[in-house]
Order: sequence, then structure tokens, then C-alpha cells
Amino acid sequence: MTGAKTADLLRVKGGAAIRGEVSVPGDKSISHRAIILGALAEGETRVTNLSPGEDNRRTVDAFRAMGVAIIEEESAQGSRVVRVTGAGLRGLRAPAAPIDCGNSGTAMRLLAGVLAGQPFESTLIGDASLSRRPMRRVAEPLRRMGAHVEGDGGEAGEVLPPLRIRGPAGGEALRAIDHVSPVASAQVKSAVLLAGLYAGGVTTVSEPAPSRDHTERMLAAFGAELRVEGPRVSLRGGPRLHGRTVEVPGDLSSAAFWLVAALVTPGGEVRVNRVGVNPTRTGVLDILRRMGAQIEVVAAGEAGGEPVADLIARGSDLSAVEITDPELVVRAIDEFPILCVAAARAKGVTRIRNAAELRAKESDRIAVMAAELGKLGVRVHALPDGVDIEGGGPLAGARCRSHGDHRVAMSLAVAALAAEGETVIEDSAMVATSYPGFAATLERLIAPR
Ligand code: S3P
Repeated sequence: MTGAKTADLLRVKGGAAIRGEVSVPGDKSISHRAIILGALAEGETRVTNLSPGEDNRRTVDAFRAMGVAIIEEESAQGSRVVRVTGAGLRGLRAPAAPIDCGNSGTAMRLLAGVLAGQPFESTLIGDASLSRRPMRRVAEPLRRMGAHVEGDGGEAGEVLPPLRIRGPAGGEALRAIDHVSPVASAQVKSAVLLAGLYAGGVTTVSEPAPSRDHTERMLAAFGAELRVEGPRVSLRGGPRLHGRTVEVPGDLSSAAFWLVAALVTPGGEVRVNRVGVNPTRTGVLDILRRMGAQIEVVAAGEAGGEPVADLIARGSDLSAVEITDPELVVRAIDEFPILCVAAARAKGVTRIRNAAELRAKESDRIAVMAAELGKLGVRVHALPDGVDIEGGGPLAGARCRSHGDHRVAMSLAVAALAAEGETVIEDSAMVATSYPGFAATLERLIAPR
């Protein structure tokens, strides 16, 4: 059956168009931050449209393990509301066991920042994929702030999970630092800023290109004193954070699968409702438009201090592009797997460069997308910091693997729509990391041509 899921296999038949209207889960990045700041604030935080994905459940469970009351209930209007009773900056309790971050790099790196300021020791662990991901980028600045951070040794002095973390002896404040991050990473920036809440004075982070700014927006909304000058952010330590209501916008990273699905299926048309369109995240829309995609942004508004809009995409003839600008790359960093699928359908050679970070995501997304699109008959040449994709040729259904990466699984499902015959994606349960209802929605949106 088209779009059907048996056990861990997702089977998708090619040749159908994607048509319809869809609401995607709440933004994963914003959901993590709403739980974290809600837990560290005073008073209650009410979060609507929190992502139901596994990654966000890990953050909820982490704070529950540190004594924070987080409950889910139905609002009077029938929607799901998550209520967090803030413990205040100094109210967390030592967890009784290691905190399991599962597959979530965001959970591990942001929690590392919070735990660096605590007077107790804690341990962060993760699944096989997360256990291979680089943590020196957060361990190093947190150590300079006076925290004890120990991990397992990796190659060339890398720090790998599990991470054992303890704040300075005697419950002293951390040292405020001026951190110049060698990578443009919102996780690094956020870890240092969250630790900065526990520092005396002003903590500053700068990065080579501005990464997503959800932490800055939400910290300011909760009452922290923050200054942003381009890619440089400063935060004054020791604020009182005040609980508030946060409406989480739909996740643009999840919406991107439906947009590309409509673009690459002739006759396709999809409307995705109330999606976050924060300019630090909209690189995917800019790139797709440069490829010739028909995408409309309508009903613009605001949710939880973030811009939102409805997005409409229609089947389009796509052409290859060059994606090399580091500022654009960081604004589309999570969408490269699905952009590779759009490139496979775009006439000409799409060249992606300055994207070595893709090798340090849930999987090595350069190697994995090259291998898996190759199975569908696409010629992809992998480079250390990007790929060349020869697009516009026919795709043939094949047996593929997600490599334990949710975005790879969903991208391959979209590629399969444009392929001749059936594609089987192994190890597809991972989609629940960010999008538990993906397969059911795919089945609903598939329209006979
Ligand atoms: C995220 C930041 C990005 C992104 C990840 C979510 C965040 O990672 O890839 O999916 O919520 O801060 P990096 O900071 O490693 O670039």
C-alpha cells in the first residue's frame, strides 16, 4: 500500500501527487527551549502545540527527573497544553540516574549548559548516534566558565558522550566568558547562554554566521537582559525568569518535506498551516525559490514571539543551483536531506559547499544521502564539505535505509514519490524523533493522478 508502514519499514509507491492541507507538529527547537526556560522560570509556563516528537519528550523527562512538575492536559478548546511549574534558576534537584537524551543533540547540548551551573553532578547519555556526536564544542567553553565537564575521549581530543557535568565547587557562580565559536551552531550558542544565566556578569557568544535565534527571543520574553549585535549575543547573568504562555509554531523543518513533495510531483499542491518562518530558519524557502519552486507565503502572523505563516507549494519545474554562502547554509542546515531530493529532480548539477557540519548530524548526511539517493539512481558526488547532485534524470524505486536518521527517512519517502515503482525504507521508526504522524499524513496526502 502506498505510504504504508509495517513494523520498521515504510513502503512508498511512486507516481502519485501530493495534494491537500496539513498542520505539522510544533517546532522541535522552540519546544526544547519552552520546556527548559519554563523549568528555570518562576511561576507557571503554559506551552501549546509542543512537539510530540521523541526528542522533546527527552527534555520533558530530563526536567521531571530533576524535580520539575510538567503535566499535559486538554485546554477548554480541546487542544493539548503542557503546564510547567517553574523551579526557578536554583530549584533543580540532582537526578537519581543518568539523563537519557536519546537521539537528541539539542537536548544534550542545551542541558549541558544548564547543568554546568548546578551544584550537583549529573550524567548525560544518548543512543548510538548521539554517542558519536562531537561535544567538545560545548565542553570547552563550559569548562572555561568553571564547570567540570568530562566525556569519553574521541579522535584528536574530541569529547564524546556520556558527559559528566558539575558546576563549580561550593555552589559558586560560573565565570562569564566571551566565547568565539568556530562553528555556527545554535546549540553551542544556547549552551553557553544558558550557562551564562548562572554566571556573574555578562556572557558573550559570537559565531561565524548567525544561527537560529530562538533561545535569544525566548530568553528576552522570559525577562532576561540580552543584547544582540549581528552574530554576537550578550546575556547578563542571574536574571529572574518569569513563566509565561508559549504557542509553538509549526516546524518549518517538518513542513519542508510536504513542500518538496508537492514540488516534485506533477499536479502536486499543498498548504501547510501556521509554520514558523523565523528568518534564521528560512534558507530552505530561499533555496527552493531559486530553483524555480512556486511557494507562496500567506496569512503572516505571530506565535510565541516568532513569525508564522501558511505556506503553499505547487508542482514546479526545478533547476539546479549553487549553495555555497555560509550564511545561507546555516539558515537551511536541517533541510539539506530534503534539498538533496529537490536537487535530484532539478535539471542540471546542484552544488552544495561549506556544509561540512552535515557530517556531524544525526547521521553523516553527506555520505548517507549520497549512498541512498544513489540507490534510487541519482548520481551524487560526495565531497568533504558538500555534494554535487546531477538532477533531472529518472528515479527508480529501491530498498533504502534511514541510517537511524529521521530526516533521511522522510526525505527518502519524498524521493520515492517521484520514483518509478516501489521504494522500501528500512529503519523508519526513527521518524518519531521529530514527526510521529508522518506516515499517516503521507498516506492522507497521496492523491491519485
Ligand atoms: C538546533 C540547532 C542545529 C540544528 C538542530 C537543532 C537547535 O544544530 O541542526 O537540529 O535547536 O538549536 P547545530 O547547533 O549543531 O547546528
